[in-house]
Amino acid sequence: MSISHAALLKMAKDARKSAYSPYSHFAVGAALLCADGSVYTGCNVENSAFTPTCCAERVAFYKAISENAKGFTAIAVVGGRQDRENPEDFCPPCGVCRQVMLEFCDPESFLIVLGSSPDNIKVYKLGDIMPLGFKMDKHSNI
Ligand code: THU
Repeated sequence: MSISHAALLKMAKDARKSAYSPYSHFAVGAALLCADGSVYTGCNVENSAFTPTCCAERVAFYKAISENAKGFTAIAVVGGRQDRENPEDFCPPCGVCRQVMLEFCDPESFLIVLGSSPDNIKVYKLGDIMPLGFKMDKHSNI
């Protein structure tokens, strides 16, 4: 990986500042790293009708996919109450976002980087946090 986990987390934390979360008051940022070193960021975007809400992770993925990015290696996620600059805890991706990751990433190598501060970082393999996920053998985006 071309940048450190801590640096990727910092990009997620910066992206979190753009979160639009007036309903949950929970702000999330994500930073998606590609093998060529490029990074796509995202924040959660909520909606008064609730179901159109999109998580930070999926915003980052859809930005990347829409620009034909490939070779995803890791995603950093930072989330917590929007009134706190520093989250109190880890923010693990929801099940829907894990399914989206499975669509575009190799579960044996793609990493999920969680952190509440630069000295409290945990890294998980997608396959470990999304066991027995559904996947058709048709994708071409890895
Ligand atoms: N959210 C994310 O953006 N990513 C996660 O991993 C968990 C949840 C958002 C969705 C919603 O806007 C808010 O956090 C509360 O669920």
